[in-house]
Parts: sequence; structure tokens; C-alpha cells
Amino acid sequence: MELKITCIPGDGIGPEIVAEAKKALDAVAAKYGHNMKYTDILMGGASIDVHGVPLTDEAVETAKSADAVLMGSIGGDTTTSPWYKLPPNLRPEAGLLAIRKALNLFANLRPAVLYEELAEACPLKKEISEAGFDMLIMRELTGGLYFGERKTVEENGVKKAIDTLTYDENEIRRIAVKGFDIARKRRKKVTSVDKANVLDSSRLWRAVVEEVAKEYPDVTLEHMLVDNCAMQLVKDPAQFDVILTENMFGDILSDEASMVTGSIGMLSSASLNDTKFGLYEPSHGSAPDIAGKDLANPIATILSASMMLRYSFDLDKEADAIDAAVKEVLKDGYRTGDIMSEGCERVGCRKMGDLIVERIR
Ligand code: IPM
Ligand code: MG
Repeated sequence: MELKITCIPGDGIGPEIVAEAKKALDAVAAKYGHNMKYTDILMGGASIDVHGVPLTDEAVETAKSADAVLMGSIGGDTTTSPWYKLPPNLRPEAGLLAIRKALNLFANLRPAVLYEELAEACPLKKEISEAGFDMLIMRELTGGLYFGERKTVEENGVKKAIDTLTYDENEIRRIAVKGFDIARKRRKKVTSVDKANVLDSSRLWRAVVEEVAKEYPDVTLEHMLVDNCAMQLVKDPAQFDVILTENMFGDILSDEASMVTGSIGMLSSASLNDTKFGLYEPSHGSAPDIAGKDLANPIATILSASMMLRYSFDLDKEADAIDAAVKEVLKDGYRTGDIMSEGCERVGCRKMGDLIVERIR
């Protein structure tokens, strides 16, 4: 099969980790007889440096013409990089928000799994981590505070900033359906997270989620307030299967969830629309402090490539091969700096990629 993939190496460690993910994909292609066609586009700081904007229309068109997009990371050091002297709509992150909107990527899947091999890295007490956990955060990605009207005005000499949190029932319904669909393939539990004790948008969220739940009698639904959820994530993460939530809450809770795994360098993510098309990227950022030093952990990006094979191309066997190779490398004791522990062998980004490729072949 021919797989048309647009790659966004991006900024910081992005180019290094995307290179390793391509190596893994090429190994899969060679083994299972597929043909990878990659086209690179610029986004974020890399695009600003060349075009003066974080994302061009041409780049969006190229992404649209592919079957899926594989992204590294974007952005730089917000205190020192000249990109952050630009107006907000021209900074690196604006490129990411623009591509999410342009490609209608409303469903963001962020798995947070405690890897058996890396249990040592979990910052929670042993009594809690022993139970293990495997949750998936389903974050709404193209609505809410991120895309509502915003402005800064001055009234009677007083500066005032306004951000608007809006959701309509259709936006809530389509993400809820995705959440329940995926729960059905997992442990059949959805925890819908909101702030219904305060926000109207949350009250509508809750009502629509209840409605959707009626179509999924085999899936258990519970509601949880976002502040309580933040607490439960460190108190009893094993209780969660699918966490379904709006854009801003999902942004915050997914960072917390990845932190409790202790290995953010391992976590992949997928952003999907209503078709098979998706954008796949690691859950971590661009780590400008270690960029270009062959120190980054490429595993989250390699696992994102595996998600891409699974969700956009229905190539489960091929995705399994990547996942198994990653597990084997960890079992064999190889670690990048971020997940290093005593008795293991420390390797760089390229070497980690090579070791995974060897195990795919
Ligand atoms: C994320 C990031 C982005 C977000 C930033 C870079 C705009 O934090 O993907 O979680 O807030 O969505
Ligand atoms: Mg975030």
C-alpha cells in the first residue's frame, strides 16, 4: 500500500525525533511491503524564519493532500527566542492552532500509560503506582477558550483582556461520540470532566454527553468536576479509562497525566477529524535546551507513527510491530537520558532509533 505522509519536523528536537520515526516507518514498510511517500512542510519557528509566518496556506494544502501528518514539535525558549517578540498570532504556537483548525482536527487522543519497564520513573507512591494505569484523554481540540473571540481593550484607562469560552451542542456531541467509540474498544468507561458547578458551557457539555451515553448502554459514564479530576489523577489514576473533556481542561489534565507516568518522552498522541485523516505527534514539547545534541528520546514520536499506522491506515499488524520493538528495547535495558535508571545502558536519540529498527526487522 502507498502511504502519503506529510512530515512537520518543526523546531527544537523536532527534526531529530521525526528522523527516527521515519526510520521506524521505513523498516515497517520494507518488512510488510508498503511504499512511504514523505513530503516535509515547515511550521512554527522553522516557518517563521523562512516565510515570516508560522504556517503558510501552501503548507496547509500539502498537509491536506496527504493521508496523514507526522509532526515532531514546535516552539522555542519563550524567554530568549526572537519568535516570542512577534505578535501572538505570528508566534510558533499559532501555526499549531491554525493547522488544527484548518484540518478540523477536533479529537485529540492522549494515552497516558504506566510502562511496566519504567515503573521506577513514576513519581507516585508505590502503593498507588503498583495498581498500574492505562488511560486515554480525549480532548476536544478546535473549540472552547482556544478559539473563542479574544481581545484586549482599555476602558477608562484600565486595560482589560477578554477570552471567550464557547461550545455548541454539535461540537460536544461529535467529541463525545469519539470518546464513547474508543471506550468501547477499551475498558468501557468514560469519565466526562467539566466544571458544571460554575460554567454554562460545562452544563451543556454534561447534558449532551448524557444524551450520547444513551446510545452506548454497554459503556459506563461518570461525571467529574475538573478540580476533583486533577486530584484523582495523583490519588488513584487506575480508576480512569477514557477521560472526555473540553480543550483547556484537556490541555492541563493531559500534562498532569503524562507527568504521573514519569516518562513524558514515551507518550504519543493523535489528533483526528471525521475521516481517517490525522495528525500524530509526541505529547512532549520541543525541548530547545537539548536540541541538536542527540539526547532526545524519539520513542514518543515513534509510537505516534505507530498510532498513525493504526488509526489512519488500519495497519494494525505493522503498528503492533513498532510497539513490540519499543517494549523489547526497554526490556533489553536501553534508555535515553530522560528515562535512565540504574543498571541500564544510556543511549542517544539516533542509537535508540537504530535499536528499535533492528527489532522491527
Ligand atoms: C499542547 C500544547 C499546545 C496547546 C500549545 C503549544 C499551543 O500545550 O498541544 O498541549 O495548548 O494545545
Ligand atoms: Mg499542552
